[in-house]
Amino acid sequence: MSKDKIAIAYSGGLDTSVMIKWLKDRYDAEIVAVTGNLGQQKEIENLEQKALDTGASGFSFLDLRADFVENYIWKALKAGALYEDVYPLATALGRPLLAKALVDVALETDCTMLAHGCTGKGNDQVRFEVTFASLAPHLKVLAPLREWEFTSREAEIAYALEHDIPVSATKKSPYSIDENIWGISIECGVLEDPMMPPPEDAYQITTSPEKAPDRAAVIDIEFEQGIPIALDGRKMDGLALIEELNRAGAAHGVGRLDMVENRVVGIKSREIYEAPAATILHFAHRELERLTLEKTVFQYKKNIAQDYANLIYNGTWFSPMREALDGFVEATQKTVSGLVRVKLFKGSVTLLGRTSPWSLYNEELATYTEADTFNHKAAEGFIHLYGLGLKTYSEVQARNSR
Ligand code: ARG
Repeated sequence: MSKDKIAIAYSGGLDTSVMIKWLKDRYDAEIVAVTGNLGQQKEIENLEQKALDTGASGFSFLDLRADFVENYIWKALKAGALYEDVYPLATALGRPLLAKALVDVALETDCTMLAHGCTGKGNDQVRFEVTFASLAPHLKVLAPLREWEFTSREAEIAYALEHDIPVSATKKSPYSIDENIWGISIECGVLEDPMMPPPEDAYQITTSPEKAPDRAAVIDIEFEQGIPIALDGRKMDGLALIEELNRAGAAHGVGRLDMVENRVVGIKSREIYEAPAATILHFAHRELERLTLEKTVFQYKKNIAQDYANLIYNGTWFSPMREALDGFVEATQKTVSGLVRVKLFKGSVTLLGRTSPWSLYNEELATYTEADTFNHKAAEGFIHLYGLGLKTYSEVQARNSR
């Protein structure tokens, strides 16, 4: 009989390297290692050789960047999804896509088990496993980090040396870092004290606002139905556009976030994020919505944004709820087209102007000059009726309290 096969979400780091050998022995199985490119800068060369040297019998490297932008990031941007009003959800958005890619490879290569390297305290285990359950409920799920014997990094390194597992010589950062094109998540080390300001070395890509250029950058961002399509008049594909805004924002210290957030598993954690492009785009998109969305739609959409962010954070991306919310969001974005001019300066992004063929701003109505076309007389009757309920209420209160 041929051996069982396990598909593992592989990063090339210590945990997932040790996992290959550990799972192979424990289950007497073959290992298929799967790595997805979501735009992380981290070394992704030689990963295949490394996975095979570590004991995997197969390796897949998938470039998921375009899929990530088109089918995940843009949806989240259009929805205005910021978890607890701050976090643009880079890590959280990447998980369902990685999990889906893992399932796809597992099915193609006849694996019967799926494994990930997430800890038992975090959100990511939830996101992976909920996605597995909705896409391939028949596959068995393994989470070695929740059950193996290693209680420290040193113990894992000792095991790796003992079994000739290649571990990279580079010194381990004092932080735990997850990165993709929508942002970088940084935690652990001194950051665990929420009163401790993040040391400069915690930041991976952004210049500190103090060291940012004295000259501001001005950028024109053009949107079509809620999706950014051009910078300074140059049409660009989504990936290039995000990369360019990450570069420009990072140079000006834009997109540093520091929050204590509520994890799915009931723990509050302190996390630092760097998300220049996400910060700029969410800001610009929202300003364009202020101009182009009808009042009740604009105000109601806030609730949808919060529900959408919770759904991403909580790992239920592949769900009828997301599809239903997408329906609402799509309907609102038909008129979110136009141009937003922003300024990047020493850590902040501010608005210089906005314009749209769908603008609901009517200067003839808004103006206080001669050009005014607003019917001031109409206000009197409107206010009479609008305040009638409260007037009646107040009269009845007064009568009965005498
Ligand atoms: N707190 C973020 C989330 O739950 C990031 C998690 C991964 N963070 C990390 N530093 N490895 O989406």
